Amino acid sequence: MTRLSNIPTEHALARSGPLRAERTLGLAESVIREMTRLAFEHGAINLSQGYPDFPAPAAIKDAAKGAIDADINQYSITWGAKTFRDALARKVSRQFGWEVDPEREVTVVCGATEGMFASMMALLNPGDEVVIFEPFYENYGPDCALTGAVPRHVALRPPDWTFSAAELEAAFNERTRAIVLNTPNNPTGKVFSRQELETIAGLCRKYDVVAITDEIYEHILYDGHEHISIATLEGMRERTVTISSLSKTYSVTGWRVGWVIAPPELTDSIRKVHDFLTVNSPAPLQEAAAAAVSFGAEYYQQLAADYTPRRNRLLGILENCGFHCYRPAGAYYIMADISAFGYVNDTEFVKHLIKNIGVAAVPGSSFYKNPEYGAQQVRFTFCKKAETLAEAERRLQKLRPGR
Ligand SMILES: Cc1ncc(COP(=O)(O)O)c(C=O)c1O
Repeated sequence: MTRLSNIPTEHALARSGPLRAERTLGLAESVIREMTRLAFEHGAINLSQGYPDFPAPAAIKDAAKGAIDADINQYSITWGAKTFRDALARKVSRQFGWEVDPEREVTVVCGATEGMFASMMALLNPGDEVVIFEPFYENYGPDCALTGAVPRHVALRPPDWTFSAAELEAAFNERTRAIVLNTPNNPTGKVFSRQELETIAGLCRKYDVVAITDEIYEHILYDGHEHISIATLEGMRERTVTISSLSKTYSVTGWRVGWVIAPPELTDSIRKVHDFLTVNSPAPLQEAAAAAVSFGAEYYQQLAADYTPRRNRLLGILENCGFHCYRPAGAYYIMADISAFGYVNDTEFVKHLIKNIGVAAVPGSSFYKNPEYGAQQVRFTFCKKAETLAEAERRLQKLRPGR
């Protein structure tokens, strides 16, 4: 390993390792964010990273501007502005009939990303095992690497991305401290059913394990699918950490406002990690967040209604070109099988897609520990304007199966 500095000092001479912590050395650049970079470089339509290219709701933009003008520009309470925590507790009560205490059970963080990392840091010791369904949102791997937790993967199998209860139970043992759940799921679009959640909850109770659940797509659902928060199941509230954020529901992925709901004792540790990591999520945007989570039920119905034609449109475009698509029940991604195109793997295919066709997607292998499992899959997002999808369709015409 090369040293960063070539100026020998007494200390440097005494040490042989790199100037960086070992825990960071195995981390690769996020494949999703790398694809966005490549898309810019090659002028490709970016159907890789999941951020909307259409405007956020005017009401929350006005609330953010108003908060800055009202000089809410200093640190907020580290675990979140009271106005926002109170409004969030009211939302959760309306949504699930779940009464959370905004004083002791809510932590406002810089997006679900920080929520997951702070929760793992707060709840897991190095060497503790964490059960993670695979394919998984790519951050969970680095989250484990940085906290020293050991992931145990359990397969979700297409076409419905179901899991085997026996395989799941086999992943639990006396070292298991947590299970990471993501419903609605990225990348598969799976929405975990009540029965599946009951199976998971039963194992959490049996093995005394915490469920850390990423519910960032909780309002993006299709075909009558219902989002169930595992915390609302019998005996789960006291062992569940529920994470969500403004990013997807209100189309503001750059704002970095998220939240973690957990029982008081767990919240106490999560708040400490959060405090020393970031102090607080942006103060004026938390005021806007209070306005956002106070929207009525019609906002969420409209959100899902707006996403449904986008999903159907991209499914149609991809299927017409020869992809075999797994129809998502929630979230805003389509996992597609690329076997028809005859590429050795997903990475080669995506490179061709970006450079020669002008459309960016995410290689499926980035969602698996063993890249071979995703070697014939790619993920597209459809959180895009109709014009963007139309242009992607025009470009994808050049793609032909069995090249
Ligand atoms: C499952 C999942 N969790 C978390 C995030 C990141 O959320 P945030 O923007 O709130 O940090 C994403 C973003 O794509 C995601 O898909």
